[in-house]
Parts: sequence; C-alpha cells; structure tokens
Amino acid sequence: MRKFLLSLATIALLHVHTKADEGMWIPMLLQKYNIEQMQEMGFKLTAEDVYSVNQACLKDAVVIFGRGCTGELISNKGLIVTNHHCGYGQIQYHSSVENDYLTNGFWAMSQEEELINPGLSVTFLKRMEEVTDKVLDGVSEDMTIAERNKVINKNIASIKKDAIKDTHYQAVLKPFFHGNQYFLFINEVYKDVRLVGAPPSAIGKFGGDTDNWMWPRHTGDFSLFRIYADKDNKPAEYSKDNVPYQPKQHFSVSMKGVEEGDFTMVFGYPGSTYQYVPSYHLEMLTETINPKLIDVRTEKLNILNRYQEADPQVRIQYAAKNARISNSWKRWIGENRGLEILDAINKKQAFEADFIKWTKADAERSGKYGKLLEEYKDLYVNYTEFRLAKDYISEILFRNGIEIASMASKLNELMVLYVNAEEAGAEVDSELLSEKKRKLLEKTDLFFKNYHKPIDRELAIKLLTMFEDNVPNKFQPDVYNTIKNKYKGDVSKYVDNLFKKSLFDDKDIVVDFINGFNAKSGKKLMKDPAYQLYMSFTDVYGNVVSKKAKEYLDKIDKLNKSYMAAQMEFQSDKTFYPDANFTLRVSYGKVGGYDARDGVYYGHQTTLEGIMEKDNPNIYDYRVPAKLKELYKNKDYGAYEVNGSVPVCFAATNHTTGGNSGSPVLNADGHLIGINFDRAWEGVMSDLMFNPDQCRNISLDIRYVLFIVDKFAGAGYLLEEMDIVE
Ligand code: ARG
Ligand code: ASP
Repeated sequence: MRKFLLSLATIALLHVHTKADEGMWIPMLLQKYNIEQMQEMGFKLTAEDVYSVNQACLKDAVVIFGRGCTGELISNKGLIVTNHHCGYGQIQYHSSVENDYLTNGFWAMSQEEELINPGLSVTFLKRMEEVTDKVLDGVSEDMTIAERNKVINKNIASIKKDAIKDTHYQAVLKPFFHGNQYFLFINEVYKDVRLVGAPPSAIGKFGGDTDNWMWPRHTGDFSLFRIYADKDNKPAEYSKDNVPYQPKQHFSVSMKGVEEGDFTMVFGYPGSTYQYVPSYHLEMLTETINPKLIDVRTEKLNILNRYQEADPQVRIQYAAKNARISNSWKRWIGENRGLEILDAINKKQAFEADFIKWTKADAERSGKYGKLLEEYKDLYVNYTEFRLAKDYISEILFRNGIEIASMASKLNELMVLYVNAEEAGAEVDSELLSEKKRKLLEKTDLFFKNYHKPIDRELAIKLLTMFEDNVPNKFQPDVYNTIKNKYKGDVSKYVDNLFKKSLFDDKDIVVDFINGFNAKSGKKLMKDPAYQLYMSFTDVYGNVVSKKAKEYLDKIDKLNKSYMAAQMEFQSDKTFYPDANFTLRVSYGKVGGYDARDGVYYGHQTTLEGIMEKDNPNIYDYRVPAKLKELYKNKDYGAYEVNGSVPVCFAATNHTTGGNSGSPVLNADGHLIGINFDRAWEGVMSDLMFNPDQCRNISLDIRYVLFIVDKFAGAGYLLEEMDIVE
C-alpha cells in the first residue's frame, strides 16, 4: 500500500505538478544564482560551459537572427537553424507565383544553390560586462530627470566608444532592473547569411494563425541558413568569394528525445517583459490599450484576408504582413484572457497592499517609498491616453498601416539633403545623392513587390475612420480639418482623392520621381496628399503625443527604478531576474504538459498522428502536403520513428517571450533537442505575470526537423555536417 501511495505521488508530481520555472537569467551570473538549482534539476554542465570569456562555450553557438529572433549553429560550416516564421521574410522575398517557396518549400541541394539575403545579419555576443558604476558616474540624487539622463547618455556613449576602439565589433549597453544595473555587450555581426532550406508553409506554418499561440501544436516551424565569412573567417559583405563561417562552437543534435520531467534549457534573446510594474499598468493594458488595438487589427485582418483569399499573388504579397499583424493581435487577446483568469490585477493590488504596510512600518522606508504607488496612479491616469494615441498612430503609419503614406515618407531624406545644403549655402554632394537614390530605388522596388492598391485604399478608409472614433479629439491631426472642410467629413471621398492625386501608388512614376529628384522636387513632394497625410500624423505624433508621453514615461521610469529597488528590499530572500530586454538569457525548466481547464490535461508531446488528425483539405491551415501523407501511409520514418510515429513538438516550463523564437532548447547534456517557437494559449500573459501551472513554451522537436530534411526534402546531405548524437 505504501509503495502504491508513493508511486501515485510520483505520478501526481510528474503530471500535475510540473511547475514552470519563472525567470530569464543572465548567463554571466549563472554561477552565482542558478547553476546549483540547474544541476539539481539534472543539468550536467557547468556555468563556465554555458558562458565563458576564456574558452569556447555554448553562448558562442547562439546568435541574434535578423533583428528580432534567435538562431543557433548546428555545424562547423556555419549552418544555422531558426524558425520558419523568423526566416519568413526571406523565404517570401525569394518567392514568386512561378517559384513559390512559401508554398513549396526551398532546399539548396549544394552550397552553390543557397540564396543571398540582402539586409539579413546574425549577431554573436563576444562578451558582456557590468558597467553600472561607470554609467552612473557623476549622477546625483538631486538632479532633475533631464540632467540625469544627460550625464548617463554621455557616459554610455563614451563607454561604448572605448569598448570597441580599433575593432570591428559593435557595442550595446542596456539598463537592467529598471536602471538599477547596467551591462555592456560586445557583439560581432555577420552580414552574408544565405538561405539553405525551408519546408513548405503547410509544414513550417502548419496550423497557421488558427493554431498560433496554442498547444497542442504540430508546426514544423524551422528554416536553415548558412553564415559566410571572408577568408579569415571575419564578417564581410556578400561576396562570391566568401566561405562558410567556422564557428568556435556549434550544438550537437540529439536523437535522444524528451520525457516528461526532463531538464530543458532555452538559450536566446527574449525581447521584453514587464514583471515588476504596478497594477495600474495592467489596468491600462487590459482596459484600454489591448482592446483598442485588438479592434484595429481585427479590421486590418478582415481586409487583408478577403483580398488574399481571392488572389494567389496577393496571398504571397501580403503573407508576412498578415502574419505580423495577426501574431500580436492574437497575443493581446490571449494576454487579456490570461490576466483575467489569473485575477492578475487583484493579485498585484494585494501585493501592493502588503508593500505599503511594509513601507509604513519604518520611518526611513516610508520616507523613501511611501508615496510611490500614489504617484504611479496619477501618472497612469494621464499617460494612458497618450499611450493610446501613440499606439494608434503607430498602427496608422508605422505598423502595417496606410502604405501609400509610408512610401511617400521615404522620400523625405532626399528633400532633407537639399534643405541642409541650402542652409549651409552649399551644393548637394552628388555622390551622397546618388547613393541615397540608389538605396531608395531598392526600397521602392521592395515596396511595390508587396503592394496591392485596393487593400491600401480600404485600409486608409478604415483606419482614418477608426482613429477619429477612438482617439480623443485633441490628438486629431490637421488632415481631419481637410476632411471636414473639403470633403464634408466624408473619409472615402478624401481617400478617393488621395489615390487620384498622389504619385505614390504607381511604381513607374515613383521611380521617375526619385531618379529626377532635384532642388525643385521638394515642393512637389510637399504638395503630394500622401506625403501631407503622413506629415500631418507625424506632426501630432512627434510634437504632441511622443513628447508628452515621454515626459510621463520618464517619470514612470524614475518610479520604476525606485519601485524595483524597493521590491528587492521588501522581498529580500527572493532571487530576482531582470525583465527581458533583448539580451542573451538562460531559462530553465522541465518538459511537461499542463491542466488547461476543468477536466482537460494536455500531454507534453505531439506526433505525426496529430498532423493527420488535423488534416483537412477544406481548411487552408490544415492541408497536409501529399508527400508527408505518403510517408505516413508507408510508415516510412527511418531512424526518426518513435513508438510507431514521429515526434513533432513538445511543451516545457521554460519562461520565454517574443525574441526567444528560434532559440536552442537543450537537454541536460547541453545537446540540441528542440527549437523554441511559441507559448501555450493559457500562459500568454507571462510577459506580465507568470502562472507556473499553465505557462508553457512550445518547441519543435529536433527529430522532426531531421525527419523533414532527410525523408521529406531528400536533403540528407545536410545531416552529414551535423554532429548527431544519441
Ligand atoms: N506566436 C509565435 C511568436 O510570437 C509565432 C508566430 C508566427 N506564426 C504565425 N502564425 N503568425 O512569434
Ligand atoms: N513566437 C515568439 C517569437 O517569435 C516566441 C514567444 O512569444 O513565445 O519570438
């Protein structure tokens, strides 16, 4: 009986109490804070194996991929793997209706066939260093915010400059714990990164936006790239003479697989989290910002989806834009839902009540921190409407908004060139001018490759109308006066005229305009209604909204710094991790499923069986490629067969966020078992509050990657350059 009870307890432990492990830790400080616990959980390596400045270590195999994702080295010939959704822009860039790599996938069958990606880079961290004292040198408590920022910015500039003197490295310096600490990062950036392989979207994006942010998941979300270097293994612009980069370190790829309870570590670049904000921040998001932004994006998606479904070319043109709009849209919905179920605002308020009690218990504390929360309250009341206006204008101009306006704005830099020259009483530097024109023509080309005018017209009408209805009058740009006076308030008439009169919806005209741009062209630009539209919004954005929002934000930042320090004092026996700030972090946890809701337990692993269960030719997101069905029918699984199927994804308890996509997921031996790509629906609010019972990161099982490359794509030659271990 006793034995029985024990084993029941073990099962309960395994299945129900796989607690998530909150925290995104600083690699340099693992020795101090984490390694003991990691090893207790099963990790077999040392802190020095993970991060070291003296020897090659795991960190040398991790890169920032592009601007917002993570990737990792998996061969000594510069081969890297990241997510399909991280390489999506590149895959789309090389795609056309005739050569549709999004739909059909792409596999280079030799290095000569790999595709060049202008603008894509990967970034290695060489070393990091704490520089708090140097950054705060000369700062005193009695300074105003502006004085303080001035000193800090000056210090930061000089620390960065000194750190990379006479090198080709780049320096990044970031605040941690809301400015209570600062770290310097020395990076090396490689710019010749070529596309090696990508599965068809029916694998790489299987489940599409229907399954996005959801578990159980069956997405083969990976793509392969290769870093090239000059003959000395140093970074270089693309050249046909470049050779595959030889990394200091690359990951061994494990065939071992995962069991519930196994140690896992995610090593990558989480973007941003807000763990230590006051309840007012959650109120602002859940009551105002998220709902409003969800509405805007619902409308954007309605428009895009309708056109994309009707026309295959438009489907490709707007694929990446649609994914981008949809991704945050769904995350905001999940975040609101999760915070509500977690009763997050009440939880924060209860914490704040305890905190206030603690401050009151001591005169010094009370003096230092007693007013913090009250001050926050007033600030958030005022800040919220500015934040809303700022986000809304961003939705209209900068984040897949009215495209004709953003095209028009690109020519600003040519005009500025002439204005500056005139002010200096000089001629425009003709070399600079033609260089700028060349770059602008490139951008123009890219812009029109993915431009569909009817979508843009509808977007313009919808967005301008929604802005008027949702944002307080005082933030209305001047263009609404035009709409009122000239078009009797009829937004569609205004938009008709915009597209009739503007140059910027026609590629040939724009190209001619750029080529012939001269001292007189500025006048023409300023008269263009698309340019005027852009300027009218940026005027409000820059001169009213951002300025004021920044004023509030600076004050909030100042409070954040002291609230952070106060929380650390208040909970002095807790080990704190800094909010994510797109610097390299370690998250560790265990493989595990979770209770999703009453009566529903989700297991930790999905397999090919689940893909076949979802298969449905009538649902775009669930069309399984014929080749995959054939492999399934013949059970042609080769070495990747496990219990009669092939593993696809697994869930674990690592604390991750946006930016962690593409991160290596490592086992106790430091071998690659998966590629992180998402989080489970019930835990999407983890950027703001972590729920150990339900927060799960979703990883692609590396064995599925190997299976697809080998059996599906027939690109098994790539496996030969990997170190595949048991
Ligand atoms: N939700 C994941 C992350 O935030 C994956 C997004 C890509 N997939 C998609 N269907 N849009 O980025
Ligand atoms: N999918 C996210 C990314 O692209 C990861 C996450 O938010 O969990 O980084």
